[in-house]
Amino acid sequence: MLNSKGFDLWANGYDQTVGVLDEADRYPFAGYKRILGSIFQRIMARPHPRVLDIGLGTGTLTTRLYEEGCEIYGQDFSPQMLRIASAKMPDAHLYPGDFAQGLAAPLLDREYDFIVSTYALHHLTDPQKEALLHRLLGLLKADGQLLIGDVAFGTRDALNRFRQEAGEDWDAEEIYFAADEWKRVFPQLRFEPFSPCSGILTLSRHHV
Ligand SMILES: C[S@@+](CC[C@H](N)C(=O)[O-])C[C@H]1O[C@@H](n2cnc3c(N)ncnc32)[C@H](O)[C@@H]1O
Repeated sequence: MLNSKGFDLWANGYDQTVGVLDEADRYPFAGYKRILGSIFQRIMARPHPRVLDIGLGTGTLTTRLYEEGCEIYGQDFSPQMLRIASAKMPDAHLYPGDFAQGLAAPLLDREYDFIVSTYALHHLTDPQKEALLHRLLGLLKADGQLLIGDVAFGTRDALNRFRQEAGEDWDAEEIYFAADEWKRVFPQLRFEPFSPCSGILTLSRHHV
C-alpha cells in the first residue's frame, strides 16, 4: 500500500500512467475518464456548488470544476500531489492530512453540495471506510450527494471473478467496494458500473 511518500514519488507521472491504462481499458483505471466525466456533469447540473474532494491527487476532476466556478475544498496526504493541484487551483481550499485519521479542521466548518472521492478510498480498510463515510454524510447539505468513483463491483461474486481473471495484475493491497455489501450498511446507496472493474457509488444523506 502506498504511503504519502509513495504518492509524492508518483505525483509527477500520475496523470500519464492513469491516461495510458484508461485508454487501454485496463485494470485498475478502465473507465476512469468516463467516471470523472459523469461526476463532473452531475455536479455542474447544480448552480454554484460547493465541492469537497477527498484524496484529490493532482486535481484532475476538481480543476475542471474549479474552472467552471465551483467552490473547491480538498484533502490529500501527499504534499507533492497538493503542490500540483494548488498550482492549477490557486484559490481552492486544499489541506494536507491522512483521511484515515479524519478531516482537516477547516473542512468541518461547512456543509457541501457534493463530496467526491475518486480512486482514493480503496486505500482504507472497510471499517475505516465506514467511519469516514458516516462522517462525510454528516457534512452534506440536506440535498447533497456523496459520489465515489473507484475500482468497484456490484457484488462480492463479481469482484472475486474479476480477481481470478486479473491473476498477477490484481493489487491485493487495495480494498475495493462490493456494492451489495455496502448496501447493507447504507441502504440508500446506488451503484452504477462504468467498466467490468469500476463504477460510481452514490450516497445521499438520508435513506430515500
Ligand atoms: C490514485 S490517486 C487518485 C487521485 C484523484 N482523486 C484522481 O482521481 O485522479 C489517490 C490519491 O489519494 C491520496 N491518498 C491515499 N490515501 C490517503 C490517505 N489515507 N489520506 C489522504 N490522502 C490519501 C493519494 O495521495 C493520492 O493523491
